Amino acid sequence: MSSSLHLEKVTPDNVEAACLLKVRPDQDGLVKPVAWSLAQAYAAPEVAWPRLIFDGERLVGFVMAFFDVRFDPDEPDDRLRSGLWRLNIAADEQGRGYGRFAVEAVCEEIRRRGQTRTTVTWVPGAHGPEKFYLKLGFRLTGEMSGDQVVGELELGDV
Ligand SMILES: CC(C)(COP(=O)(O)OP(=O)(O)OC[C@H]1O[C@@H](n2cnc3c(N)ncnc32)[C@H](O)[C@@H]1OP(=O)(O)O)[C@@H](O)C(=O)NCCC(=O)NCCS
Repeated sequence: MSSSLHLEKVTPDNVEAACLLKVRPDQDGLVKPVAWSLAQAYAAPEVAWPRLIFDGERLVGFVMAFFDVRFDPDEPDDRLRSGLWRLNIAADEQGRGYGRFAVEAVCEEIRRRGQTRTTVTWVPGAHGPEKFYLKLGFRLTGEMSGDQVVGELELGDV
């Protein structure tokens, strides 16, 4: 994987390029458009952690984590408190390790905040990202969140 991979905050200079990021047309039902996610981040700035994924100067994707500001390490039921909210890798940039990089970066940020588990939900089925998340070590919890399945990753396993 390229050593020039990094995350950047969304800024006035890059926000329009971010809104133009597109997954493949057949994947549109799997994830909200970036502009939608950025509107949600604007509405919940203390919870959302939106970042652009760059390979050198090339914008290749968008990731957004959520952090529950009420997180209490002594609270036993912290399972659905923090994790991946959105992940959009550009259609012609998929399959190059960028998704894995973004998930690992979110896990790192969750660890930095003193938490030990990453949660994600996804549209079930072979056409969705299930194999990707299972490959990265997520396990299905058996729960549903709306019409999406819930996966979690113990950060000791990353
Ligand atoms: C799912 C998605 C984020 C994966 O990103 P990506 O950059 O293409 O994935 P990576 O290249 O980092 O893949 C990491 C590993 O998962 C595997 N993988 C990725 N997608 C896979 C798939 N559909 N089926 C099987 N394996 C898959 C890769 O082969 C790779 O394995 P390796 O490390 O052994 O080579 C990307 O395809 C995407 O944006 N999809 C559309 C939107 C979406 O579904 N987002 C998730 C919403 S919850």
